[in-house]
Parts: sequence; structure tokens; C-alpha cells
Amino acid sequence: MDHFQIIDGELHAERVPLSRIAAEIGTPVYVYSRATLERHARVFNEALSALPKKHVAFAIKANPNLAVLRVMQREGFGADVVSGGELARALAAGMPGQDIVFSGVGKLEREMVQGLDAGIGQFNIESEEEGIELAAVAAARGQRAACALRVNPDVDARTHEKISTGKAENKFGVPIDRAAGIYARLAGLPGLDMRGVAVHIGSQLQHLQPLEDAFIKLGALIAELRAGGQTVTHADLGGGLGVTYKAGEVYPTPAEYGAMVARICGSWDVTLMFEPGRVIVGNAGVLLTRAIRVKRSSNNTPFVIVDAAMNDLARPAMYGAWHDFEAVKPTGQRMTAHIVGPICETGDTFAMDREIDALVAGDLAVFRTAGAYGATMASSYNSRGFVAEVMVDGDQFAVVADRILPEAITSAERVPAWLD
Ligand code: LLP
Repeated sequence: MDHFQIIDGELHAERVPLSRIAAEIGTPVYVYSRATLERHARVFNEALSALPKKHVAFAIKANPNLAVLRVMQREGFGADVVSGGELARALAAGMPGQDIVFSGVGKLEREMVQGLDAGIGQFNIESEEEGIELAAVAAARGQRAACALRVNPDVDARTHEKISTGKAENKFGVPIDRAAGIYARLAGLPGLDMRGVAVHIGSQLQHLQPLEDAFIKLGALIAELRAGGQTVTHADLGGGLGVTYKAGEVYPTPAEYGAMVARICGSWDVTLMFEPGRVIVGNAGVLLTRAIRVKRSSNNTPFVIVDAAMNDLARPAMYGAWHDFEAVKPTGQRMTAHIVGPICETGDTFAMDREIDALVAGDLAVFRTAGAYGATMASSYNSRGFVAEVMVDGDQFAVVADRILPEAITSAERVPAWLD
């Protein structure tokens, strides 16, 4: 469910016609719906209501915009961060340090220090080497870092290979069969307070079974750790729930996910932690774009050339991902077209041979379900600058990220004197 709907023949974000945003802010522009964000946060929380002890940390990587984080903070979410930059954003959005989890295989010493300074709730350690380093950094400061050990359960999440994280060959976590030994050794270090285990097997998951398999393995590990005298008070189950990008595809609902978690993990006597990203923000955003021109191709299927490109929305070029494409003022006429951006490579293709609302040059359209892994994965390729972001709230909207013009990027570059 989202709040992007046709009202009086025009696609609106809540009660704001998208043509108004295009006229005032220009295109391309990401548009987020506050009501949709809030709805998803509440549906997710509701799905977990049977669990007595839980903590939800929004995976900031999905959408790090400060206004989006503020909505999450107001809904009581903490944050899952993977860099010092994301940690700073979580704090800037008002999330308490205690509610922040720091994941990632490549934490730098200065990021560890930043996390300790902020008093974050949990470091998710991804290797024994990292744990030893963090222990030394914390001990040198007279601190103990609260930690969970991320394990790699070696399950096939059955998702795109580039966003699968829980198979043995992936770089994440420690092999589950070596986890108990590593946990015990790390728990013996004075700088660490080992309090739990973590798992995250991948993103855009369409099936609950791989998650269930991973959780069963995690439950066995918790029992093994406790039997060995270790303390386990937290279990972080990661994120990964997929969302529908293409009409007709079926994904597990948060309620089905919550029921499975309660069934498998409900008796663990731990605080269960969650790191949802896409399921919260995915369909709370669209990328609003304008058709620059429609060009005939050699086989007569037209190319609709839009002003958004692969630098603004990378997912189609990067993962072959599908994003629905809809006219802002559909006429009822349809056409089959290739949808492409202006960037000078063939990869800058959003769709081939797609049946879409008929468009002519100048018409507005949206790519749907662009709220997750959209603006945040933008680049300035072809010197195109960074796209603006807007949030709608009822009948009002605000720019929540300025468009960054190519000149601003060029102004950070220097030609050394020896090239004069
Ligand atoms: N926790 C960890 C440790 C993660 O690595 C991720 C995502 C999440 C939570 C959130 O997963 P979600 O609930 O959003 O599925 N750029 C790709 C997605 C990469 C996901 C990376 N990790 C895409 O556009 O599909």
C-alpha cells in the first residue's frame, strides 16, 4: 500500500500533484511520501507485536536522507549503519547512540572510535580480526564495546547474486561452524562485551524458507554458546524482506515474516533485533522524470529518452532490476517502447520492449518503488550532478535534498600549477 494515486487524471503523491513538484523543483527528482513511510514502519512494528523484547534498526543504506531518518526516528526506529558517514546521519536525525547498530566488514579504526564516542548499542563484528582490533581500541580508551558476532550461515537466499550475503563464498560474517570458538575467544578480551549473534542473508528476498533455515542455525548456535558458558542476550536477524516491483509478483508480508520469526525465535529469551531497509522505504518513493524526446529505432520500437539516467537510478543497469514506469497524466493510450536515459552507454537502459502509457516529448512519468537504493546509489557520471529529493506530507511538500549541480562537483576539483 502506498500513497501515490491518480486523482482527477493525474498521479499525486498524497494530495500533491506531481506536475506541481516538477514545475517548482524540476526533474529528475525523487519524491517520498511521509504517510507511506509511516505506514510501513507501523505495519512492520505491528508484525512483531507478539515478540516481547525487540529492537528495530532501520538500515540506513536503503535511504539515508535526513528527513527520511527523522520519520524513522519519530516511529521509534534506531539505525543499522555501515560507515562513519551513516553513523553521523543517524545521530543528526536524533537517533540515540544506544539504538544504533554498526555493521560492515571494513570498519576503520576511526569509525570504531566514532562508534565508541557515540555510545552505540552494538557493533556487529564480521571477523575475528576485526573483533581483536575493536577490543584493543576500546580497551585503550578504558571502554568495553557491546558486540554481536555476525555469522555466515551458508544458506542460499535465492535472490540476485550481487545482493546475496549469507553463502559461504560471500565476504560477510564468520563461518557458522567456527563461530562458537571465535565468540569464546572474543568474549575473553577485556575491551569487548560479547552480547549476541547476528545474521543477514541477503536483500529483496522472495521466500521465507532461507531466512527460516538461517534462523534455525542461529538458534542452534545460541544453544551451543550458552552450553559453553557464554552469555547471549541479543540476536540480530538482519533485514532482507523483498517488495513488489512488478505487478503480480508476490512477496511475504511483514505479518507472515513476524509469524515465522515468532515460531522459530520466540523461545530464545533474547532481545530480537531487526534491520529492515527496502520493505520500509521501497514503495514510499518514486523517481519523477520527463520525456526529453521520443526517437524511432531501426525496428520501429521507439526509444523514450527520459531525463533520468543510470546515474540517478542505478538498479536497472546494475542488477537488471525492474521498476514500473507510469505516466503522470495517463491518457489511456498505450505504446511499446524502450525506456532509456541520456548517458552515453547502452547500459543506461531502464527497460526494453516495455508496454507503457503512451508518452510524447515533454510528458512527465515516474519510476515506481524508487525509495530504497535509489538516490543513495546515485553518481555524477557524465557530469550530471546529483538529483534533488522531495518529501510530501498531505498537501505540502519540501525539498529534503538540494539538487547538486555539476558546477558544485567541478568546484571541488583542482588543476595543479605544474599543469599550467
Ligand atoms: N542489514 C545488513 C547487514 C545489510 O547488509 C542490509 C542490506 C540490510 C540490513 C537491509 O536489507 P533490506 O531490508 O533493505 O533488504 N543495492 C541493492 C541492495 C543492497 C542491500 C545491501 N544490504 C539493491 O538496490 O537492490
